[in-house]
Amino acid sequence: MENWQNHLHHGECFKFMQERFEVLKGRFRLIYIDPPFLTGAKYSLKTRSQDEVGISAKVEDTPTYNDKWESIEDYLSFMRPRLELMRELLTEHGSLWVHLDWHISHYVKVLLDEIFGYTNFVNEIVWKRTNSPKAQSRGFGAQHDVILLYAFDSQLFQLKQVYRNHDVISKRPYSYEDKRGKFRLIEIEAQGIQRTENRKQYEWRGRTAPYLYRRETLDKWWDEDLIYRSRNGRYTKKQYLADTLGVPVSDLWFDIPPVQGGSLEYTGFLTQKPEALLERVIQSATDTGEIVGDFFAGTGTTAVVAQRLNRRWLLCEEAESAVEIIKQRIQNLDMTVEYASSSF
Ligand SMILES: C[S@@+](CC[C@H](N)C(=O)[O-])C[C@H]1O[C@@H](n2cnc3c(N)ncnc32)[C@H](O)[C@@H]1O
Repeated sequence: MENWQNHLHHGECFKFMQERFEVLKGRFRLIYIDPPFLTGAKYSLKTRSQDEVGISAKVEDTPTYNDKWESIEDYLSFMRPRLELMRELLTEHGSLWVHLDWHISHYVKVLLDEIFGYTNFVNEIVWKRTNSPKAQSRGFGAQHDVILLYAFDSQLFQLKQVYRNHDVISKRPYSYEDKRGKFRLIEIEAQGIQRTENRKQYEWRGRTAPYLYRRETLDKWWDEDLIYRSRNGRYTKKQYLADTLGVPVSDLWFDIPPVQGGSLEYTGFLTQKPEALLERVIQSATDTGEIVGDFFAGTGTTAVVAQRLNRRWLLCEEAESAVEIIKQRIQNLDMTVEYASSSF
């Protein structure tokens, strides 16, 4: 695998990372993992068999993986050496994204703080994974997963700004309209404590105020018809809705729906994650041509998206049924893939 482009490995990830450590060390700009979550469940692949006339008959369950553990300690001692190795595989600008939920995320946060250092923790992302949580006999219905994001070195790490589409709430401030379309007003004068803190004031177009911008900048905006003058003579800047790239994404990801049963990307694998989720992760953490890794690959969503975004990728997955799905999904993509399997 010395000259690999994209690589799919069928086998256990610790064994694989150890065996190939020299080839993989320091290569990955991004590793995203969606490992078992300590849910206590056994997962299966749901496929619909067809009868002779091609009509869907019954749903078949093929076991995929088991998320049952003796104890929390048992789970953490499984994760620790794998997370330690993954850190070693990152580039110095790289990052690890660990997808979990309430079952174990807080314990893994502490473990990752130990492995990466507390100061290299970047974000806890909350992904709203369902609109209809199951009713609980106690407590509230769980509606979200979390993704813990760690940088190899937070001093060198730089997330790329990504945007989400506007929704009804984010459009609300754009309540003004002129011939160029809807716009909102942005302050160009210092406000609050900044205003009272001896900030220099100057006169511009009949109003003396602690302006946040230089006179030349205000003149340029005036010429471009981007300055709004209120009835009492105060100036603000117009920001047109059409000129925005969308809403800058925060650590709350409420706009990505789960994989729907009837959608084109659905494979029948119960814990499959949506392509849109991986798109956001990969776009915010990598550049074209860089290498993305996923060592708990499931159906290979990471590879499908990485390929579409012109990144290189490496996947590892131990369940045979999942590897078969990955092979099918990547068959449809135009690429060079190396495939290997390890015996246990
Ligand atoms: C939650 S699923 C990943 C789903 C994936 N993100 C997707 O979109 O399809 C976790 C996967 O990790 C695999 N897995 C569990 N333990 C593993 C190990 N030690 N090495 C490699 N794969 C493992 C399971 O077989 C399962 O397919």
